[in-house]
Amino acid sequence: MLDGDTDMNTKRRPIIAGNWKMNKTPSEARTLLRELIPLVTDMTSSVDVVVCPPAIDIPAVHEMTCGTPIALGAQNVHFKDSGAFTGEISAPQLKELKVSHVIVGHSERRTMFNDTDETVNLRARAALAHDLVPIICVGETEAERVEGSTAAVLTRQTKAAFFEMSREDALRCVIAYEPIWAIGTGRTATPEDANATIAIIRETIASIYDADAADTIRILYGGSMNAKNSDALMSMPNIDGGLIGGASLKAEDFASIVTAAHSHA
Ligand code: PGA
Repeated sequence: MLDGDTDMNTKRRPIIAGNWKMNKTPSEARTLLRELIPLVTDMTSSVDVVVCPPAIDIPAVHEMTCGTPIALGAQNVHFKDSGAFTGEISAPQLKELKVSHVIVGHSERRTMFNDTDETVNLRARAALAHDLVPIICVGETEAERVEGSTAAVLTRQTKAAFFEMSREDALRCVIAYEPIWAIGTGRTATPEDANATIAIIRETIASIYDADAADTIRILYGGSMNAKNSDALMSMPNIDGGLIGGASLKAEDFASIVTAAHSHA
């Protein structure tokens, strides 16, 4: 049932989130949004559209998106509200600028900035405590895939991310399945493969909570998703949207992905 019997599934509202990573200055962010907002606004009737700029751009993006249906996301959040944590940003700081979503545990944070399964859990819970929606990233490396440990890695990461999290809080989270070998490489998981792998994550959610929770939680695909492949990916029953890196930096490309999500909503 979890691997694609749509009849039994709760209809999940798609989300397309743009992860701008360390790209765009505040003025470039304004330019991109001036182009993007009119292209995607109508589709927000059926799709949640989120942009996650670098922290320095958040005030500019807030100015551009307030009063529009485009949601503002951050790329990271610390688990303490304030204190001696040079270079970090807290949930209350994000909340003041109307940030509603935050990416947690992106593989670039895990591999380059020492985020661990444990800190991913702490960050997600801090986000939830301040009413931010965590977009929790999980995904296997190429080596893990080749050695056949994809399921074990995803199960471990998912269990750790949801450690001591209530069912109610868990259902407020979004999961992004991002195979690391597909991020920024132009190599995408095939739609069938991504769909089957996301089923493993749903099984894990079912084992922590129940089958209904697994059917309700929204799970995105991320990794070289673009204007060309998004329609096939979005046609898969387990895929509820995308976390988009490179293709979120061009208004037309990002809008095409939102259109694909809209057409499958
Ligand atoms: P990509 O990045 O779309 O450029 O592969 C996705 C991500 O890292 O979130």
